[in-house]
Amino acid sequence: MAMRVSYEEIFRNSDIFNPVSQQTLLAAGKLAGMSPEKSVLDLGCGKGFPSLLWASLFGVSVEGYDLGESYVAYANARAKLLNLEDKVRFFCQDLQTFHCTGTYDFVASLGIELSWLGGRTQALNRFKDMLKPDGAVILTEPVWRQRPVPPQVHKAFGTKEDSFLTLPETQKLFHEAGFEELGCFVSSKQDWELYVRPVFVTMQKLAQKRPEVANEAQAISNSFKAEADFSGEHWDVVLWVLKPI
Ligand SMILES: C[S@@+](CC[C@H](N)C(=O)[O-])C[C@H]1O[C@@H](n2cnc3c(N)ncnc32)[C@H](O)[C@@H]1O
Repeated sequence: MAMRVSYEEIFRNSDIFNPVSQQTLLAAGKLAGMSPEKSVLDLGCGKGFPSLLWASLFGVSVEGYDLGESYVAYANARAKLLNLEDKVRFFCQDLQTFHCTGTYDFVASLGIELSWLGGRTQALNRFKDMLKPDGAVILTEPVWRQRPVPPQVHKAFGTKEDSFLTLPETQKLFHEAGFEELGCFVSSKQDWELYVRPVFVTMQKLAQKRPEVANEAQAISNSFKAEADFSGEHWDVVLWVLKPI
């Protein structure tokens, strides 16, 4: 059945669409070596919260791309509100047809599917081409805790065994693609709570306002709850800071 509740509605009161805390973003920016005069390419930027934070804290300039028009409009309005519009710009763009013409000090890939950039290995190679010398990639990837993954997890997530790698498999992939790890942050239960709580409240309000989508809103909350509940046991979301070797 087609979804009647849009992603814009689901994330209406969310700033970041990932179980990643401001503390982790701060630590990642610091580890990556962010400073004024340096630049960030934010792929699948959503509402732009991570790169707006880096621009505010470290003075980096930002170019962000996302398919969602309303997210891009929100991100640009937020940049203006923060007096960052001279340094920070967000654009509407499908990453599946994105041709990067410039190079940047940092590439952020937070919550995007690497298949949009041709698959895991090709995406990592493309990131390298997008980087200036001494640059770094900041990326999140979901990882299985162990294999085989229990069927109830695949049922709840709509995934298959090869949808994600395990943590050691992901580290091997990075190494084989020519990256070293500067940092690796596994989302905590609190990070998950900060991510899912605004969605629960938003879905509850939506169900009251539009009773015809109440069942769908409840199902959406249930799927976010399953993701949070299964974290730490069957899967994790991990943020990496990677540097080409
Ligand atoms: C999980 S969210 C992450 C957003 C943001 N990076 C963050 O951490 O808050 C994934 C984002 O990818 C965007 N997206 C989905 N398909 C896309 C595509 N083909 N090209 C560009 N962006 C896409 C969505 O609109 C959404 O904002």
